[in-house]
Amino acid sequence: MPSFCFWEIGMKGLYVHIPFCIKKCKYCDFNSFSACEKEKDAYLGALILEMEKYRGETVDTVFIGGGTPTSLSVKQLKQLLGNIQNTFVLAGTCEFTVEANPKTLDEEKLETLKKYGVNRLSIGVQSFCDNELSALGRVHTGIEAEETISLAKKYFDNISIDLMCAIPDQTKESFRQNLEKAFSFGLKHISCYSLILEEGTPLFDENEKGNLVLPDEDAEREIYEIAVCEMGKHGYLQYEISNFAKSGFESAHNKKYWQCDEYIGIGLSAHSYLDGVRFSNTDDFSSYIKGEFLSGEKEVLSKEDQMSEFMFLGLRMTDGVSKTEFAKRFLEDLEKVFEKPLSKFKNMGMIEEKGDRICLTKKAISVSNQVMCEFIL
Ligand SMILES: C[S@@+](CC[C@H](N)C(=O)[O-])C[C@H]1O[C@@H](n2cnc3c(N)ncnc32)[C@H](O)[C@@H]1O
Ligand code: SF4
Repeated sequence: MPSFCFWEIGMKGLYVHIPFCIKKCKYCDFNSFSACEKEKDAYLGALILEMEKYRGETVDTVFIGGGTPTSLSVKQLKQLLGNIQNTFVLAGTCEFTVEANPKTLDEEKLETLKKYGVNRLSIGVQSFCDNELSALGRVHTGIEAEETISLAKKYFDNISIDLMCAIPDQTKESFRQNLEKAFSFGLKHISCYSLILEEGTPLFDENEKGNLVLPDEDAEREIYEIAVCEMGKHGYLQYEISNFAKSGFESAHNKKYWQCDEYIGIGLSAHSYLDGVRFSNTDDFSSYIKGEFLSGEKEVLSKEDQMSEFMFLGLRMTDGVSKTEFAKRFLEDLEKVFEKPLSKFKNMGMIEEKGDRICLTKKAISVSNQVMCEFIL
């Protein structure tokens, strides 16, 4: 089936996956694991080969994620970053993010990242409380997270941290303390994810055995409400369900996913979305390092699929979706295509119009999944 795509396409984003971590956290089901130097070198060789497919492409966001990209050595980081710079054309305004774990950053790595054009760091902190970190199986302490942020601030202005809520043993008070600590660093961006118990992870099993004390649904909602309220008070604008930023520091790369813009995914299990087609790489490490990059999974999105995605991903953002942009992309009237769910949720006070934009109301954000799934055509 030919793909449906006839709107003016903006610049693409680039995602590069580094699947290595010092040690697997108890909750994480990302494609990540600990590896020896030989495996890391073999992987980098394969990554560089895969990048060749896109030589000369211009991108305006780069996101090296994982796993823990900063678990690579300085030499490996130089090889990776040098090849990205040589293979792709990075637009002048390119947002260039690297994910990091507090246990994996030192001055030499920070200097290297900066020298090779990285201009944004996203540090996985999760919590500053040692009992919560140990319940999550993290490799660092709260103090180590604080020290890493202070060190990173010497090199980077644009720093984001990930925090988690609804983690075992977390109370409203300990969550407030985590937020206060985060605010004290004057960061530009904070992501706040509710812990998801993923099947197959040690934390999931512990919960099945009844060994975890997790905040109940009401407490989880209250913790989320504390996050939204305190972030607002400290000048962090909520621009997506789990993401908060100082004005002008929203993640341009993540916005590409929610705006259904195009992105190239390089590396193990990475996904790409190009020309109305979504496809994924293999999640098998030995196949990947042999140069067998693609998984064979490919989805040609019909016009209906693309219109649905535009809505349910776009509604994750507090700015919602633009009627004009919808008309430009699909040559359709958004209000006609989604007449039924729009009128239902407007009557329920869950959806509102702000000029050209349609967005979820504050009360709808905490039940956003139920609302968004009704926009699937
Ligand atoms: C791929 S990790 C990269 C950061 C880095 N590896 C680290 O953890 O220090 C990105 C983020 O995903 C979030 N995350 C991973 N698994 C999660 C889960 N099961 N529930 C909620 N958030 C999760 C964590 O906040 C983590 O910082
Ligand atoms: S959360 Fe981050 S550090 Fe922990 S296993 Fe997952 S990718 Fe690795």
